[in-house]
Amino acid sequence: MKLDMPVPLERLLWFQEKLGLAEHDLKLFSIYRDIFLGEKEDFANKLCRHFLEIPETRVILENERRRDHLKKVWTQWFELLFQGRFDEAVYTCIWRSGLRHVEINIDKRFINLAYAFVRQYCQDIARSEIPVEQQESFLTAMDKIVDFCVLVETHAYVSATARCDMEVVKGISHQVRNPLTVIGGNILRLQRDINPESPMHKTYEMILLENRRLEAMVRDASVYSDMFQKEPVFSNVSLEGVIADALISLRDNLDRKKIHLEIHLDPEHPMVQGDSKDLETMFYYLLQNSIEAADPGNPHVRISSRAVDEESPLLQIEIFNTGIPPSPQDMADIFVPFYSSKPYGTGFGLSIAQLAARKNLGDLSLEPMPGEGTTCIVQLPLAAHDRSGKGR
Ligand code: HEM
Repeated sequence: MKLDMPVPLERLLWFQEKLGLAEHDLKLFSIYRDIFLGEKEDFANKLCRHFLEIPETRVILENERRRDHLKKVWTQWFELLFQGRFDEAVYTCIWRSGLRHVEINIDKRFINLAYAFVRQYCQDIARSEIPVEQQESFLTAMDKIVDFCVLVETHAYVSATARCDMEVVKGISHQVRNPLTVIGGNILRLQRDINPESPMHKTYEMILLENRRLEAMVRDASVYSDMFQKEPVFSNVSLEGVIADALISLRDNLDRKKIHLEIHLDPEHPMVQGDSKDLETMFYYLLQNSIEAADPGNPHVRISSRAVDEESPLLQIEIFNTGIPPSPQDMADIFVPFYSSKPYGTGFGLSIAQLAARKNLGDLSLEPMPGEGTTCIVQLPLAAHDRSGKGR
């Protein structure tokens, strides 16, 4: 598979800033450029020998043409470290190495081992070639540079692996969707042609229910995979607005279950910060879950919000529903994909909602309230202007 994912420049610059890797570190590194570049071929040869001794990586290096090519790649990468500045070419080179390593299926641990080799190799040269009084500052700069490369390569590797996994989920969903529609349509036709009193009618009904559950599961799996892959676009979002949008899609569920819905949002804190699409999806699944779980004899759902406390930059949103709360056994697995305590649930709703909350720098938990129902507690960052002067 050829992976083509754009370099997330902003995130890489953020890594650089967090590591404290500044221009003077790169300049300091480049002072000793000639010493190190004199060793670049030796570096590539030794790195290659190191990995020829490991059976899992030897298979990758056995082909001589590839080995020579790789040595050239490693020498060029080594040179880039000493050029005195990091530009787009450097970020792209390290980022693409992570993507290539996933394409060729190298275990990430071997890449980390290679970076440990780089560190030791440079330390050895520094200790023998650089004046003692300069060594400490050089080694500090080198640690930041190598750490940065590891972080960027890891970011690319993890993103590419997640992308591959999610592509498989999406691919299966896509392939399963059409046959399900055909099966559903045909069963419906067969059912229409027979006497509603016949036992076969019931059997068809059961097949149709299972078919609809699978269709919903395929749809939710696709939503989960999108939620996982898409970077959030943060802005200030009206809580009332996203909840109202989610409720529009749940109108039928509310009517069918005759839900008595109450909404009490804190007027002092009407906005949160997050990706509006993610938050709408999160509220859709949380509310769908509450509506379905509500006690049919007293179908009640209540949404409320309040600041966590004076100091906290978070807003707490609670969604309460009447009904039997989840058992301790359910509580242990309730956020795990495919786990459902409902006979026709897809087992994805709460997993999607939790993923959305965490992706948007918040959190999500459930609190059983024996004898009353269940409260779902969501915490989300307050909108930027509301947060000024509060914790974190
Ligand atoms: C310090 C650690 C390493 C660095 C800095 C590094 C860097 C790179 C770079 C820059 C590329 C080229 C990316 C592109 O296509 O633009 C690459 C590709 C590749 N790397 Fe690494 N790598 C490292 C470790 C390893 C190890 C340990 C192996 C396996 C033993 C390996 C195997 C490969 C292979 C097979 C390719 C694809 C080369 C091709 O195009 O055929 N790398 N790496």
